[in-house]
Amino acid sequence: MYDLIVLGGGPAGYNAAERAGHKGLKTLLIEGRALGGVCLNEGCIPTKTLLYSAKIFDYAKHSAEYGVSFSGASIDHNAVIDRKGKVVKTLVSGVGASMKKAGVEVVSQYGTILGKDAEGFTVKAGDKEYKGTKLLVCTGSSAAVPPIPGLREAVASGFAMTNREILDLRKVPEKLVVIGGGVIGLEMASYFNSVGSKVTVVEMLDHIAGPTDSEISKILQKNYMKKGVEFMLGAKVTSVGSDCVNYEINGKQESVKADAVLVSIGRRAETKDIGLENIGVLTERGAIVTNEYMETNVAGVWAAGDVNGKSMLAHTAYREGEVAVANMLGARERVNYNAIPSVIYTNPEVAAVGETTETVKAKGLDAKVESYTLKYSGRYIAENEGGDGIVKLIIGKEHRNIIGVHMIGNYASEIIYGAAMMVDREMRVEQVQKLVFPHPTVGEVIREAMFMI
Ligand code: NAI
Repeated sequence: MYDLIVLGGGPAGYNAAERAGHKGLKTLLIEGRALGGVCLNEGCIPTKTLLYSAKIFDYAKHSAEYGVSFSGASIDHNAVIDRKGKVVKTLVSGVGASMKKAGVEVVSQYGTILGKDAEGFTVKAGDKEYKGTKLLVCTGSSAAVPPIPGLREAVASGFAMTNREILDLRKVPEKLVVIGGGVIGLEMASYFNSVGSKVTVVEMLDHIAGPTDSEISKILQKNYMKKGVEFMLGAKVTSVGSDCVNYEINGKQESVKADAVLVSIGRRAETKDIGLENIGVLTERGAIVTNEYMETNVAGVWAAGDVNGKSMLAHTAYREGEVAVANMLGARERVNYNAIPSVIYTNPEVAAVGETTETVKAKGLDAKVESYTLKYSGRYIAENEGGDGIVKLIIGKEHRNIIGVHMIGNYASEIIYGAAMMVDREMRVEQVQKLVFPHPTVGEVIREAMFMI
């Protein structure tokens, strides 16, 4: 009998299991694939490995602007993919080691919930059955492949790929068409543009990067157009052929030829075939319904990470898993969804937290919105020839508190947690003015801007 059975070993599951183990709960983690989930094996980490190689290559190509010359910089895509494998392997074994250290037992099989009785829950994995008094479901999500004519056939034949397959692609396609200009689409468009593919992004909305602040989305698009990426906006994919993607734009049917296609049009929670119906766990549009404490409708069952569909980000998953475990142990913790940072690891990077210009309008908030060039930072000028990065502050008018910060420009990914702390702690402009930031840094523009708003 276990105190806790965790189903799914991605960021939500492995982190929750580790925390639970250290708190003294007899914990079992059931994972059918490699530990680390999508994030570690076919998401966050592999893409960042690829993008770092691309960034080095891009810097090499533009090094003359900084007084450094190379003769014939080149990038070996296969070596990049090999290195990605090595990085992933190191991290997956690291997760295994932390499970051991926390006293968590790991079963490497797919698990199915069989039922519940007075003692707790029964989960089958392989040919064995396990019992636990509590259950935490962290089965994550997978790429959505909607019934667009020809798309499923294209995925089956390998012509179209999701994030999973494209990260193992050995040949750089001459012409890559990316369906969906969201986070995955843009990060992969960025990599393949750097390594020499002609990339076209076909996006249904009239802008890229989904909920990103519209001014920043435009700057990002401009940067990538300069690098040669083509964007078809307001273009809804209607079918996929054997060598092309067909879409509707301004009421007209158009087509773009492709050697390979990436499908990145969102993700779906993984709730099928795990036996949720055997214990009556409620789902809504495929995702497990949880309250703010990560509890499902069934007492003793929690759900964290992508599977609850609240915010499909690995760092949200970490926190949700921790919140679930803390609450199992008698706390009443919550996730502050208003202060979850988001990052797009393009070059330049985009990072944001809190309200956007659009959500301020939609919610009718009384807020001041102001953009500042990153050229206020000496370091930004030193390191970014021709850079057009900005930081945008969104300040509540009544209390002068920081409710949103948005950035485009490198290091944004590493700076944004500071802004997330300001939003989470509901800090006021005058309080940030009194903090000392290191100089010279790109992040100090945030502080400088507090004196101008
Ligand atoms: P997404 O939701 O970010 O973007 C999907 C895009 O596809 C949207 O802009 C949508 O308008 C467009 N689209 C949908 N149907 C279409 C059609 N028929 N034709 C043309 N365009 C269409 O989804 P994405 O990029 O697949 O990412 C999935 C999840 O993974 C996200 O929730 C994201 O949070 C997470 N992720 C996070 C990363 C990060 O934090 N850096 C990196 C990669 C993924």
